[in-house]
Amino acid sequence: MKMTEKVRNLINEQINKEYFSAFLYLSMSDWLNQQEWPGAANWMYVQYKEEIVHAEGFVRYMAMRGEKIELKPIEEPKHEWNSVLETFEEALAHEKYITAAIEKVAKAAEEDGDRAAKLFLDWYVLEQVEEEVNGEDNVMLWKKAGDHPGALFSLDRQYAARTFVADEIPHLDN
Ligand code: FEO
Repeated sequence: MKMTEKVRNLINEQINKEYFSAFLYLSMSDWLNQQEWPGAANWMYVQYKEEIVHAEGFVRYMAMRGEKIELKPIEEPKHEWNSVLETFEEALAHEKYITAAIEKVAKAAEEDGDRAAKLFLDWYVLEQVEEEVNGEDNVMLWKKAGDHPGALFSLDRQYAARTFVADEIPHLDN
């Protein structure tokens, strides 16, 4: 079954959004490194890699369905923030925006009777729940650390421990 134009266009837009997410987190990671928050920078760098996997998941799915991808220019991300907390607050706001975008694609797949695309998108719907929970936790922890140098130092060290494990996205052939 061919995709409807609406679903194809929305998935193409989502590919762009996921690559933009990668750019945003890479930019945050770089800024955090410059500000000497190596742990938080590591966390954002792992997030950058996750977003590449999300984007590639859509690219591979389109290839599997024989649908054309249309790569559009990726918007330039911000380069400066006022605090480490602000990067995590903006990351959370960004994930909420991505959740709404994913819900829109899933709804279109459902309305257009593309059950295969809907099944594929369900993984992303659930992933967004995790993304928002992580985002809320990050904001809560950095807020709690407040202005206490000791708490900030140990929190940053904790964030240095995050490692990248590529998500296995279901329904893709290899
Ligand atoms: Fe690709 Fe952070 O959602």
